[in-house]
Amino acid sequence: MISPIYSPAPDRYENGMKYRRCGRSGILLPEISLGFWHNFGDVDTLARSQAIAHYAFDHGITHFDLANNYGPSYGSAEETFGVLMKKSFAPYRNELFISTKAGYDMWPGPYGNWGSRKYLMSSLDQSLRRMNLDYVDVFYTHRYDPDTPLEETLQALVDIVRAGKALYVGISRYPKEAAKTAYRYLEERDVHCLLYQGKYNLLNREPEEEGILRQAQKNGTGFIAFSPLAQGLLTSRYLDGQIPADSRMARETSLKESALTPTLLSRLKELNKLAARRGQTLAEMALAWVLRDEQVCSVIVGASSVEQLADNLKALANTRFTDEELKEIDRR
Ligand SMILES: NC(=O)c1ccc[n+]([C@@H]2O[C@H](COP(=O)([O-])OP(=O)(O)OC[C@H]3O[C@@H](n4cnc5c(N)ncnc54)[C@H](OP(=O)(O)O)[C@@H]3O)[C@@H](O)[C@H]2O)c1
Repeated sequence: MISPIYSPAPDRYENGMKYRRCGRSGILLPEISLGFWHNFGDVDTLARSQAIAHYAFDHGITHFDLANNYGPSYGSAEETFGVLMKKSFAPYRNELFISTKAGYDMWPGPYGNWGSRKYLMSSLDQSLRRMNLDYVDVFYTHRYDPDTPLEETLQALVDIVRAGKALYVGISRYPKEAAKTAYRYLEERDVHCLLYQGKYNLLNREPEEEGILRQAQKNGTGFIAFSPLAQGLLTSRYLDGQIPADSRMARETSLKESALTPTLLSRLKELNKLAARRGQTLAEMALAWVLRDEQVCSVIVGASSVEQLADNLKALANTRFTDEELKEIDRR
């Protein structure tokens, strides 16, 4: 049963959440944002999704990250958000920063995938209807489409902003060369690229190694990290080598059992020891590690319970690392 009346915590901005400036822009984002990829679909209970979203907003998480195909089923995370918007968050729309995306398969046929103008425009219209919103704060192209002229995709973003359907735009998982073109194209049309969304965590350093972080910083674009807990691997979930029945790995959707190799498991155990010495859980340390980098403006976490989100928020108490700790992490 969804609770009928929601009154957000009056002290929601005094609970320890910090906000970082998003590149060269007027926008501040919470250091921890909430993602709707899993746990908000029509396979999940509305009551639990609602409890997580309320807890987030009550603790200063003003940014919710969605995409057209989040669920399952496709579109259902946006529908869940639409219900929450209507029942809970409508009076607080101006306190919220909502993103959605299009780029992966969404509907059958040739116009429901990738990066054409037709797909992006119609997808955003559908997303707005599902989410009960007049506009999103950020609209992303969810991935680079090698077969569509990049100018077509980017011009759709420009026109979406001009039409007032998104306040800002972003790119997600773009290779460096395509990102360079995107930054320039958008800038020349006075539509600054607010955000680059990329996978960044202790186990995946690509944004550092490939220069994506530095490139975004040079362009005044905020870098926002997704899957900062490597979908749960960087938590206590799998540390004993077992796969809990209610875990993402047990559901075998986006996190496969094959990811938990003996080598990884022993690395996770070592990292967990270091986290304990810092007085943190592995999840807290993993989030703190991404946030140690001032170039990152926020980490988007997923959570299947309020308890997990509460644990994750504790990371904010200590995001500093000694050189020795950083070296130890790199050796692992
Ligand atoms: N742009 C893109 O292409 C892209 C791709 C992926 C994700 N994203 C965005 O990033 C968001 C986050 O991604 P993600 O869900 O992979 O993030 P994540 O934070 O790396 O993983 C979240 C999962 O880890 C487990 N977990 C979280 N906190 C925990 C804790 N304190 N203790 C134990 N387990 C914990 C939960 O899994 P269990 O179910 O096992 O409890 C949770 O669902 C998504 O929702 C989406 O908004 C974007």
